[in-house]
Amino acid sequence: MFHSYNPATELGPNAEAGFEVPYLEKKHIIKAKDFIHAGQGSVQLKRALKSVGFPADIIQRVSICAYEAEMNVVMHGGNGVLTFRLDADEILIDVEDDGPGIENIDLAFQEGFTTASNEHLEMGFGAGMGLPNIKKNVDSLEIQSEKGKGTHLKMRFQVKKDGD
Ligand SMILES: Nc1ncnc2c1ncn2[C@@H]1O[C@H](COP(=O)(O)OP(=O)(O)OP(=O)(O)O)[C@@H](O)[C@H]1O
Ligand SMILES: [Mg+2]
Repeated sequence: MFHSYNPATELGPNAEAGFEVPYLEKKHIIKAKDFIHAGQGSVQLKRALKSVGFPADIIQRVSICAYEAEMNVVMHGGNGVLTFRLDADEILIDVEDDGPGIENIDLAFQEGFTTASNEHLEMGFGAGMGLPNIKKNVDSLEIQSEKGKGTHLKMRFQVKKDGD
């Protein structure tokens, strides 16, 4: 469930984007190993973006990144929070977990690198493509991770205005 503490009532100043972008911030709790509910945060985020009227290509890119980050928390991380913030100029997806962290970030971003277990592989995960896919689809990406200290991803997407 998204926990909204700033309902989408106030409209942002960028109506010139061709659609009205509300200020909106929502949080979704991600539980470690909870494959039953895994991906729900991304699904709800996709719905929210559709209801605001974002162009399909932005929705697609944001959804891919949110889904991959959410699944990584479920599979490799600990418990986490996905925060989704719609701003005047950008969409921010912030995903933070208190899991084991990533020892070598450069290695983790290499296509095909995975530490997935056999159980994950049997479920169809573990291609080692989640982080590379995120990198391809964001406009900007910040990652903080340390062994034993969890992982924090900030993914940003520009809201294109007419004429951009
Ligand atoms: N939140 C996280 N916490 C700890 N380790 C992570 C986290 N996210 C990614 N990793 C590490 O980085 C590796 C690469 O992640 P990536 O998402 O690219 O591939 P994958 O999750 O293994 O497979 P796929 O995403 O294709 O199902 C993971 O196998 C894991 O070792
Ligand atoms: Mg992954």
